[in-house]
Order: sequence, then structure tokens, then C-alpha cells
Amino acid sequence: MRLLPFPLAFRLLLLAALALPLALPLAMPDMAQAGHKAPDKRGILLVAFGTSVPEAVQAIDAIRQQAEAAFPGLPVRLAYSSRIIRDKLAGEGAAKKSPAQALADMAAEGFTEVAVQSLHSIPGREYSDIKATAEAFQAMPKGLRKVSVGRPLLYSHADIAKAAEAVLGFLPGHKKGEAVLLMGHGTDHPANAAYAALQLALWKRDQNIFIATVEDTPGLGEVIPELKRQGIRKVFLVPMMSVAGDHAHNDMAGKEDDSWASRLTAAGIRSEPVLVGLGSRPAVAALWIDHLRDAVKELDR
Ligand code: CO
Repeated sequence: MRLLPFPLAFRLLLLAALALPLALPLAMPDMAQAGHKAPDKRGILLVAFGTSVPEAVQAIDAIRQQAEAAFPGLPVRLAYSSRIIRDKLAGEGAAKKSPAQALADMAAEGFTEVAVQSLHSIPGREYSDIKATAEAFQAMPKGLRKVSVGRPLLYSHADIAKAAEAVLGFLPGHKKGEAVLLMGHGTDHPANAAYAALQLALWKRDQNIFIATVEDTPGLGEVIPELKRQGIRKVFLVPMMSVAGDHAHNDMAGKEDDSWASRLTAAGIRSEPVLVGLGSRPAVAALWIDHLRDAVKELDR
């Protein structure tokens, strides 16, 4: 958080400074035979936001398994982009790497080209940070020669249309008087507009599917009046996030007064949570893998 006020150039420099001591020891033998380019060694780095909820990890594992199956020749590594989650896990003795640590380790292992795949939903801050990290590593002498970054789930108009199709494919069947309410994360980053675009794509097919976000707009307060207006008595609550983690278990389905389930009950609407992350939905995971395929192709250019 302390890094945020600094201009991008400083942040890139800092990243490089942090990563170099890790990358140097193994880069040394290369320097000895200057002029000889090492053969390409390609790998994949999946970057999830991360989760501190143990049972939520299976959704990330599911995407990883799809990646390993889709690219049998390429080693797949994993990093968590959230510092808060990483700090929490480190305190519990289950440390996870940051994207920069993972890339530094891959460079040290002799990888020369890495396709990084963002497992985030929208092209918000986490995604921009991954892009900046990838660029910094590419610019480093003796670093990785090429680092491409695969776009998150809801990036282009076409991506959003495909995501809507995939989501419609697994949503619980809902009768008259019932609706589905997806919980997106939400952010004050302009990419938050992706949720509105997804809502529009979903409404083209089903008027009783709604999306609201935990952290930004539309909030649940904007959706409840619409549910009431349409005479909805029951909603299925479904996380629109790679994992069904803390937000899904607490902010969505929790017992506290301010959870979505409690606020809906207070508004006279019953709810039934579906605690499954998007990563565990094969059709959605396949979209992240499609984006990874584009990132791997980009390494050829
Ligand atoms: Co959050």
C-alpha cells in the first residue's frame, strides 16, 4: 500500500531491485559464457488473487489442472497477487509467492519465456499490476526474454459474451418468482464497468439474473428494489469470482446483519447460497485457459 503514491517508474525500479538478488546467483553462469544465448525454456505462471479459505483453493487447483492438461510440455507455476492474503497465509506457515517472486524464481531456474495468466475477473488494479511486473521483468538484463500476460475473464466485448454463455450454462434453474443474483467483487477502478456489461449480456438471455458487487456499484441496495418490483421471493446467491472464499462465505452467505443473505431476508426475499467458485466451473475455467492460449501464442511473436 505504501508503494501506491510513487510514480510507476519508481515502482518498476523497486520491483527490479527486489527481484534481482533472487535472480542473480543463477544468472551468473550465463554471464561467464557471454555471447552464448541459452536455449528457450518456456513456462506458465497462473496468478490468482488468492484465498485464505482452505476449501476455496480447489477452484484454483481446477484451473491449474486445466492449464496442465492444455499445455502438457509447459511447467505451470502459481502466484497470489494479494499481499494481504499472502501475509495471512505466511503467518499460518503456508506461504505463497507474489507474481514478482514467482517470476524471479522462474528466471533463476533457467526459464526464458513465461506466459502469465491473470485469474482475475476484470482488468482492474490486480491485472495492471501484473502487466507492470511482466514488463519490468522483460526489461531486466539477463532476465526473462519474454513475458506475455493473458487477459482476465471479462476483458473484451467478445470475452464478456462468452463468459455470459458459460455462466448461463451452470446457473441453478429458477422458477417464476425466483432469480439468480451473482456476486462480483467490484472496485473503484474504471474496469468496474465490466460488471454492467456482463449484466447486459445476461439480460439478453434471462431477465431474472442479476449481478451486484461487494465493493462498488451496482451494490445490493440497487438490486433489491428491482427484485421486489418483479415480485421475486427467492434468489440463488452465486459468487462471480474465481473462488468461493471469504466474500462468498461471509459477505454473501454469512449470518451477520450486513451479509447479502441477511439483507435479503430483511427485505422479505429468501436466499440460497451456492458456494462454488468460477474456477470449479469447467466452462468458465476453459475461458481463462483460452486467454492463456493467446498469451502462449504471443510468445511466438
Ligand atoms: Co475483496
